[in-house]
Amino acid sequence: MAARILGVVLLFLGCSVFCNGESGKSVTYDARSLIINGARELLFSGSIHYPRSPPEMWPDLIKKAKDGGLNVIQTYVFWNLHEPIEGQFNFEGNYDFIKFIKMIGDHGLYVTLRVGPFIEAEWNHGGFPFWLREVPNITFRTDNEPFKYHMEKYTKMIISMVKKEKLFAPQGGPIIMAQIENEYNSVQMVYKESGTRYIQWAANMAVGLDAGVPWVMCKQMDAPGPVINTCNGRQCGETFTGPNGPNKPSLWTENWTAQYRVFGDPPAQRAAEDIAYAVTRFFSKNGTLNNYYMFHGGTNFGRTSSSFVTTRYYDEAPLDEYALPREPKYGHLTDLHRALRLCKKALLWGVPTVQRISNDIEIRTYEKPGTQTCAAFLNNNNTQNAATINFRGQNYYLPPKSISILPDCKTVVYNTQSIVSQHNARSFHPSKKASNLQWEMSQESIPEMQQLQMRSRQPLEHYNLTKDTSDYAWYSTSIDFKRGDLPMRRDILPVLVVASLGHAMVGFVNGEYIGFEHGSNVEKSFVFKKAVNLKQGMNHLSFLGMTVGLPDSGAYMEKRYAGIRAVTIQGLNAGTLDLTSNQWGQEVGVQGEKLQLYTEEGSGKVQWSQAKGGAGPPLTWYKTYFDAPEGESPVALRMTTMGKGMIWVNGQSIGRYWVNYLSPLGQPSQSEYHVPRAFLKKEKNLLVVFEETGGNPSGIKVLTVNRDTICSVVKENYPPNIDSWKLSGDKLKALVDDLKTEAELICPDGKVIKSVAFASFGDPSGACGSFAVGQCNSLNSKKVVEQLCLGKNMCTIPLKNFDSNFKCSEPLKTLAVQVRCGRGKSASA
Ligand SMILES: *[C@@H]1O[C@H](CO)[C@@H](O)[C@H](O)[C@H]1NC(C)=O
Ligand SMILES: *[C@@H]1O[C@H](CO)[C@@H](O)[C@H](O)[C@H]1NC(C)=O
Ligand SMILES: *[C@@H]1O[C@H](CO)[C@@H](O)[C@H](O)[C@H]1NC(C)=O
Ligand SMILES: *[C@@H]1O[C@H](CO)[C@@H](O)[C@H](O)[C@H]1NC(C)=O
Ligand SMILES: *[C@@H]1O[C@H](CO)[C@@H](O)[C@H](O)[C@H]1NC(C)=O
Repeated sequence: MAARILGVVLLFLGCSVFCNGESGKSVTYDARSLIINGARELLFSGSIHYPRSPPEMWPDLIKKAKDGGLNVIQTYVFWNLHEPIEGQFNFEGNYDFIKFIKMIGDHGLYVTLRVGPFIEAEWNHGGFPFWLREVPNITFRTDNEPFKYHMEKYTKMIISMVKKEKLFAPQGGPIIMAQIENEYNSVQMVYKESGTRYIQWAANMAVGLDAGVPWVMCKQMDAPGPVINTCNGRQCGETFTGPNGPNKPSLWTENWTAQYRVFGDPPAQRAAEDIAYAVTRFFSKNGTLNNYYMFHGGTNFGRTSSSFVTTRYYDEAPLDEYALPREPKYGHLTDLHRALRLCKKALLWGVPTVQRISNDIEIRTYEKPGTQTCAAFLNNNNTQNAATINFRGQNYYLPPKSISILPDCKTVVYNTQSIVSQHNARSFHPSKKASNLQWEMSQESIPEMQQLQMRSRQPLEHYNLTKDTSDYAWYSTSIDFKRGDLPMRRDILPVLVVASLGHAMVGFVNGEYIGFEHGSNVEKSFVFKKAVNLKQGMNHLSFLGMTVGLPDSGAYMEKRYAGIRAVTIQGLNAGTLDLTSNQWGQEVGVQGEKLQLYTEEGSGKVQWSQAKGGAGPPLTWYKTYFDAPEGESPVALRMTTMGKGMIWVNGQSIGRYWVNYLSPLGQPSQSEYHVPRAFLKKEKNLLVVFEETGGNPSGIKVLTVNRDTICSVVKENYPPNIDSWKLSGDKLKALVDDLKTEAELICPDGKVIKSVAFASFGDPSGACGSFAVGQCNSLNSKKVVEQLCLGKNMCTIPLKNFDSNFKCSEPLKTLAVQVRCGRGKSASA
């Protein structure tokens, strides 16, 4: 009774959807969709991972997801964060997934929880703790007792934590769906019948946990029992063959908004139009849940990324790494969600029909017999040619490769190819407050074999050695040469050859640096081959091996190896000398890590000297202090004068950087590294960099990041069938009124328009940040925009305001505007 009264009181206090004490919502499904509290639902979901942003950023991310029209947030649970050592758990701070789920619920959004526990996710070891590899007789992800024992134990613990907090929808919480395993089909063949038994077991185990919400498996054609198979990919609208049962809905658990990047990759793009087409196609073909993977990627802090994956994760998502809306992607998808919601009744309760007009043109409708409820999707699949088609007595113009959405079967409210939302461009600005950094340096010493305690005949396997407590492991051996062993001619040098399974290494002979070599994400192993000066007497060979994350995918992940496998010296008088079994000394990590030079306390434990500027030696620690940059914008470090290494700010790891590994375009894959504001104090922030291969810290820049360059591109008479609009319903009218025959600009964060960089009404070309005037142009373009917009936070620019008394080859003219926002007085305020 008390609980009931409390619920009522909370309701009156404005408690929205998911208050404790409020009654729960059942979640079931049928062939059309998930059914929440008895009603079918359209679900627009986006992935945001709690460990990839500090908790201080979570509320803003969730709010921006909601403003973008999402009603679900999807996250994995990251086992190796929570149980780094068997039986020792961490759910604090950045690892507090319960808090993250509650926060999403408090914003009125649902959650889908991907428990895994295998998650892939470009995450170190696919989420598995390292200790799992060392369980006797274990084979991951197959019908193997030790593996199943640990998977079940962990899964049970996570589900019971969630239940205890009452976070499943039937308990009154936001979680409406859960996922077990992840993309298992791609490895199942390797494990034969054992794989089949395993997936059956996993499904039964999950369902047996009685979470009260549906379970899904993605990319699992034979998902057993009530478990729903879902689609992952870019084009589920084309490729998905449908759910694996007549009473299961069509769900898309990973809609890739771009592509994650590995070091060595050029940038990736996925155009907003392409995403919009794919999602619309999916919903037009019975789809009812789409998840953007990622909606916000964030940052792989510390050593959390899997092999070779960059520190920045899915920066091309609708919210970029810094949580700034990437336009027009964010806005165009927001508009799409609004348009699809207008079709909700028809989509969820209507009867689908398909009408093939030609090879490329298809009309899909959803209609409730005997009612006005009707939605239509007009699809032009031709990538080259536009089309005009007749549908129910009206003509509709369809741009190439596009779908028009008609929530009333009459009115086009959205076309996937026709972007009306604002565009923007990101820029980085050197901070004035945090310039002129004074760097100090401290070099690692290069150990010889006799200083290394861990001895073996042959070099030890790298992962087994470090147990993932560090990227680094020293390997050293010593060899005595007599005068007659070495070549007589001084100009002919012996060649040292080190075969490594990966991922990178630096080499030293008698304390002298001889070089750096690395593998790639595709081919992790490499051969380090350098001509070396050897001397008569004892020679010391020392190698620092480095890994760049554990693998996160494929079969038999517990049996992946890295590090030095064979070492020879060629060109000695007796030919080639094999040193592989010469006796080796080893050590895990570098000294500076053990002393924690990246903390205030640890940095006092070594001598630092002033860094002189210019390129420094390899294996060098650098430190400096900087004040928090002016303003509120996100902060980044530009590392382009460095090589490869790690960064810490106030003791917190920013992640790995690697700027001397150039992409085929001749650029680093990632030049800027995010430093969350939450890591910063106002003054005297300790910045420490460990440089592995040699770099010049005086070129490191502290930057602020913004998207204050905003643009609008609007064509006359959009949408194209404007004359024939017959509006039905106020909502539809409002939405259509909103569609622009005018351009609209809104500065972010309450800023105002400071200058108009470009304006052309005619046939301009290019994109935001790089527009150019075309063949025809209204001469008063810039003046019109300046008059309407300067000093304002927001302005609308009707196309009729432009002088249009000139000839253009295009029948419909386009307005392109680019302005710059900044702080200052708002004339409109
Ligand atoms: C590991 O497997 C072997 C052979 O199947 C078996 O003899 C041994 O008892 C197993 N060890 C453990 C700890 O289960
Ligand atoms: C799926 O991803 C593609 C590409 O990232 C995107 O175009 C499409 O809109 C997405 N669809 C869904 C349902 O997420
Ligand atoms: C959509 O659902 C209808 C009715 O259940 C079915 O006939 C049709 O084949 C489905 N279409 C697709 C593309 O799955
Ligand atoms: C659309 O075109 C693509 C190739 O551009 C093709 O793969 C796809 O099957 C086509 N879809 C339809 C529905 O015709
Ligand atoms: C890993 O190390 C253990 C001893 O610590 C050894 O028994 C085992 O063979 C090693 N495995 C590999 C793959 O090197």
